[in-house]
Order: sequence, then C-alpha cells, then structure tokens
Amino acid sequence: MRFHLPTRIFFGSGMISRIKEIVEEDFKDASLFLVTDKGIREAGIADKALSHFPGIPVFDEVEQNPKHTTINRAGEIVRKIKPDLVIGLGGGSSLDAAKAIALLATNPGKIEDYEGKGKYKSPPLPVLAIPTTCGTASEVTWVSVITHTERMFKMSIKGPHMFPAVALVDPDLLITLPPPLVASTGLDALTHAVEAYTVKPATFLTDIFARESLKLIFESLERAYGNIKGDKEAREKIMLGSTLAGPAFCNSDVGAVHCVAEAVGSLFDTPHGVANSIFLPFVMEFNLPVAKDRYAEIAKIAGVEEKDNETAARELIRMIKFLSSSLNIPSFKELGIKENQFPEIAQKSFENNSNPSNPREAGVEDYLEILKKAA
Ligand SMILES: [Fe+2]
Repeated sequence: MRFHLPTRIFFGSGMISRIKEIVEEDFKDASLFLVTDKGIREAGIADKALSHFPGIPVFDEVEQNPKHTTINRAGEIVRKIKPDLVIGLGGGSSLDAAKAIALLATNPGKIEDYEGKGKYKSPPLPVLAIPTTCGTASEVTWVSVITHTERMFKMSIKGPHMFPAVALVDPDLLITLPPPLVASTGLDALTHAVEAYTVKPATFLTDIFARESLKLIFESLERAYGNIKGDKEAREKIMLGSTLAGPAFCNSDVGAVHCVAEAVGSLFDTPHGVANSIFLPFVMEFNLPVAKDRYAEIAKIAGVEEKDNETAARELIRMIKFLSSSLNIPSFKELGIKENQFPEIAQKSFENNSNPSNPREAGVEDYLEILKKAA
C-alpha cells in the first residue's frame, strides 16, 4: 500500500486573508505568477487575493476544459517571466492549468509531450492552489487534465512532483458560486468519493478519506445548493468534503463514471461535473453485481437503513438520481448528443487510463449500454 499527500493544506473560512503570510512561510521573497480565469476576475475574487501582491503578472485566459493550445501559450509567457511560484486560483480548470503551466516553466516543448505519468525531466515549479469551487480537489492531487482539441481527447499529465506544494482552501470563496456550479462541482466531488471507495485499487487509507468525504457531502450538498451564501456550516462541509475526496481518488483511482464523463467532455465540451452527475447512477447500476456490498456501506453513510445489501445499494442509486434531479442537473437527453455518436463516446471511455480500475470490467459494448440507458 502506498499513500502520497505532500500538499500542505490550510483550510478555514477567511483563510484567503492570510495568503501573504502563507506564501511567505514557504516562499519568502518569491516572484509570483497567477493563473486564473475571467469569471474569477469579474467576481472580484482575484482582486481581493491580489491586493496583497501588487504588480503580480496574471494569466486569466483559462477556459472550461482547458485546451492544450491555451496552456502552451501560457507556457511561453511563464518561461519569459521566470517566477518562483505559480498561484492557481479558480475551479478545477484554473488549478489544472496552473499545474500544467508550472511544468512548462521548467521543461522544454509543449504540454502534449508530457502526457502520462512522470514524463517531465525537471520538477515543475511549486504551485499554490486556491479552489473556488467544491468539486475537483485539484488542489491536493497530482494530475492535470488538459484537452487536446485536435485529438478531442482529455490528456492526463501527472507525477509525484505535480501535487501543489500548498492548498489554500477557504469555504468563503464559494459564496459567489452560482447554485448550478455548487450542484455540478459538488456532484463531481461525490463521484470522486464513490469511485475512490469502489474501484479496484482502493486501500484502507483511501477508504478513510473517501468515507469522511462521503459523510460531509451527503450532509451538506443540498443545503449548500439551497443557500451557499447564508449556510456557513454547509459551505464548510461541502468544501472539506470536496478536498478530502482528492487524496482518496488520487491514491486509488476513479472508474467508469469518469471514463465516460471525460469522453463526453472532450467531444462536446460538457462541464465535467455535469457529465459525472449524469452518468454516476447508471454506472452504479452497471457495477451493482460486483460492488453491492461497498454501495451498501455508502448507503449507510448516506443514512439509508436497509438490512440487506442489495436493497440498500439500490436505494442509494435511487437516492443519487433523486439528488441530481433536485439539484436541477440536466438529463443526458438535454445535452443534445445524438445516438450515432455513442460508439465514439464508448470507444473513448474504454480507452481511458482509469477504465481498468473500475470494479466491474467494462468493454466498449458495456459503455454503449450505459449510454443507451442514460439516454
Ligand atoms: Fe472529477
């Protein structure tokens, strides 16, 4: 069993106001480079954080499902600026982009040259990651997911030096997050915890993180969706639940839900959390024959009181479907993807690196079945 979590985590409401102190603790007099997106700048979150660092260079062109061309453009900029520390501020896209840009700062070539595990020659620059959504846990994981737009494929770039050095996790940064994003990113976090707990590489240690994450997410997601601004406790729980799922799936893996969600995301630019939310219950139904005992344990964490595991597991799946619809997650149909595109999605899902981790072996035909059931 191995378990790796080198990121130093600062968690708490209002923590963003301590950013300067946190930077100086490990990176005194470091020159900085900020990676974020335009939405974060418009919401004023970046300005608040940046007021502590006048004149800091900013790259704010990160888009949803960040593209390889964007990362390569930012790589050119960061190589000229030569900072000591990259700050990533935003949702998973901005944090993944910051990690990829930190890699290009110390390595030649383009980001696609580093697809896979540990392909970099020099360790990337250290990253300080500040999440503003409650989903990806990119602030504590070793992976950066970048879309190669010509191949229409989500590349995973990872390695033991890709973990952010520091995660500054402030639940108050969720206050301005629109409810649909609370829902979709929160359900991404739930998917991380469910998959981490049920995939083949799960271990005793990843189970601990997954169980605590599940507990926090089930307790808080609907409340956070209903009143992210007013419900401080729900805000703190969903943020912590999201972050805790990171060490769980990063040290075990994700499974078929992410395989199909990443395929759909790379082909149709569907937000990652929405795609996960849509497929989670359908993949669980597919996995049920081999994962019912584990699902029953999750059901218990979610408050389901059923005596036999099969009934409890089915009740959990029903509950998750209900949760998605009460959070107004769109249905698969509403994405407007035609059935003649299913074979390509199924093929890409099968080719995903995480497919072998799924608790039940899933072939192209199985993914086709899952897509048809979700449609
Ligand atoms: Fe995810």
